[in-house]
Amino acid sequence: MSVFDEIKERQRHMWTVGSFPDIATRTVPAAEAIVDRLGIETGERVLDVATGTGNGALVAAERGALASGLDLTPKLLAVAAERAAAAGVGVDLTEGDAEALPYEDDSFDAAISMFGVMFAPDHRRAAGELARVCRPGGRIGIAAWTPAGAVGQLFMLLAQYLPPPPEGFQPPILWGTEDHVRDLFAAADGAVTCTLERVRIEADSVEALLAEDEEKLGPVILARQALEPQGRWEEVRARIAEQTAAANVATGGGLVIEPEYLLSVIELPG
Ligand SMILES: C[S@@+](CC[C@H](N)C(=O)[O-])C[C@H]1O[C@@H](n2cnc3c(N)ncnc32)[C@H](O)[C@@H]1O
Repeated sequence: MSVFDEIKERQRHMWTVGSFPDIATRTVPAAEAIVDRLGIETGERVLDVATGTGNGALVAAERGALASGLDLTPKLLAVAAERAAAAGVGVDLTEGDAEALPYEDDSFDAAISMFGVMFAPDHRRAAGELARVCRPGGRIGIAAWTPAGAVGQLFMLLAQYLPPPPEGFQPPILWGTEDHVRDLFAAADGAVTCTLERVRIEADSVEALLAEDEEKLGPVILARQALEPQGRWEEVRARIAEQTAAANVATGGGLVIEPEYLLSVIELPG
């Protein structure tokens, strides 16, 4: 198995442990923002790559688009299907890899990915696939955590304690930097616009958010599984708590953090 295949296996596992469907509710407003920004209209064909529980695809479908969603992780696609049925919208859901999209060239008017394609190990190949399946004049929208934001900082902290990644690994949060996105899509020759946006996460306290992440958020669960037997989890936990407290913007009691993400829009030439 190649290094990239191993990373994908790990991804599939990472988003299956815990309860990612609960975590994904935090970023529904980002799905609304990206669909708005792309001006998705009724009848347009829209693909949500690494759709997970379907956040992007569902918002597009609710706006009248012919929505498709693709993801590596069948367990999350099953939740996406349940959510689509409950919302009374149709979404074409497919298990697959962002680096080898099972669609013909020019199949979609728009392709989006919310905190998803960033986790495919071969960034350039995944970007090329997004551009390939979009028709000329189509648009691509990508949301990715920035290195400076609270989620990016969490990933970077965990990485300091975990074994070094394999050679050739590119950190997912690179997709949260404008230069990287511009470089990845240079070959597509589109007009690229990037803006910094935020989602809002509220909890009763730092401890309450951390406890929820330890129970439900794959990257935190797997880091704990690796570090607790080495007696290092308490230190990491304390550092996460410190970072989270420093990011607290609540004016009353409780905790409010607003993790930053980069919203990139690529308008392909007609
Ligand atoms: C943080 S979740 C985001 C899910 C969803 N887009 C959302 O906004 O809630 C990351 C998703 O990327 C998917 N993923 C990771 N690598 C992938 C790949 N190579 N191809 C397709 N999906 C991938 C995972 O299975 C997971 O559903």
